[in-house]
Amino acid sequence: MIVLGVESSCDECSVAVVEDGTTVLGQVVATQLDEHAPYRGVVPEIASRTHTRWIVGVYQRTLAVAGVSPGDLDAVAVTNRPGLVGSLVVGLSFAKGLAWGLGLPLVGVNHMLAHLYAPQLEAPVEYPFLGLLVSGGHTIIARATSPLSMDVLGTTIDDACGEAFDKVAKHYDLGYPGGVAIDRLARKGDDRAFLFPDASLHPENQRYDVSYSGLKTAVINQLDQFWNGTSEKSPENIAASFERAAVDMLLRRLFRAVGDTGLTRVVAGGGVAANTRMRASLAARTDLQVRFPSPELCTDNGAMIAGLGYHLLQSGRRDSLDLDASARVEGFRSTCP
Ligand code: KG4
Ligand code: ZN
Repeated sequence: MIVLGVESSCDECSVAVVEDGTTVLGQVVATQLDEHAPYRGVVPEIASRTHTRWIVGVYQRTLAVAGVSPGDLDAVAVTNRPGLVGSLVVGLSFAKGLAWGLGLPLVGVNHMLAHLYAPQLEAPVEYPFLGLLVSGGHTIIARATSPLSMDVLGTTIDDACGEAFDKVAKHYDLGYPGGVAIDRLARKGDDRAFLFPDASLHPENQRYDVSYSGLKTAVINQLDQFWNGTSEKSPENIAASFERAAVDMLLRRLFRAVGDTGLTRVVAGGGVAANTRMRASLAARTDLQVRFPSPELCTDNGAMIAGLGYHLLQSGRRDSLDLDASARVEGFRSTCP
């Protein structure tokens, strides 16, 4: 079964063709990085308008790369949640038009479940496993039990992890995207120049939750309060100290989940999973089998949507042409196909 996957939930415009949920025949990912760089953050209005201009061209190029024609497609899968609604609607409308025009089944895909599916496109990962999804929009520790089900164990109670990187970088004018700039600077900095606190949440019912709003405020507005009194207050030292606090906060929760569940397989995904400190800390845990999808499957992409779409279709799922987009996913704490 050949499934076309459409992804437009944020600032990546991507279409892919995947066979039987595993073989990527072709994929194009067009990033809007340059469109948003002047604003040092994703501007939703610009994102949706750029998708509108690009989506048909990205689709046409994908078919050419994959060497397939529209008549070879068996179904259309599209991200319809969660994400920026204006952006989602562009991909969703395109997918509906295509499915209707070609007389193909349509299926809406949960973007977060798709991220957890992404590594399966490269080499199988056995279920269940722990998923760590960290990007500009999501911060999730989940237990994946099948391609179609996950239990979200922990999430952020306020800002996303990548969002905190981006806001700190924007405030100190460190560069864009913020996470990449901070990662680069942090390699030359003292990570104990500032000793930022880890927000302590109620341990019992929020064992795996994180909070980035307090850390962001501490780094931006209360720097002196957390200074160690000796190190230089340089951009490198701010970056290294912030990165240590942000990454270690999340990994402490992940390692707590490893201890509680006994699961040693971990799948990491999202833009922040490219972070040097995060990768090194995970690699240092030799008792864990940690999988990082390759960069093009780690960030937003159409292949993971087509891949998971295949499993939804196999389970009998079909969506109608009144399928809606939604910014959030309800019932995120339980299994949510
Ligand atoms: O998955 P992604 O490309 O897009 C979405 O947000 O959906 O993730 C982008 C986020 C941004 O917040 C960016 O600053 C962050 O990932 N990021 C990083 C690194 N590379 C990208 N954060 C920390 N370290 C990095 N090396
Ligand atoms: Zn994503």
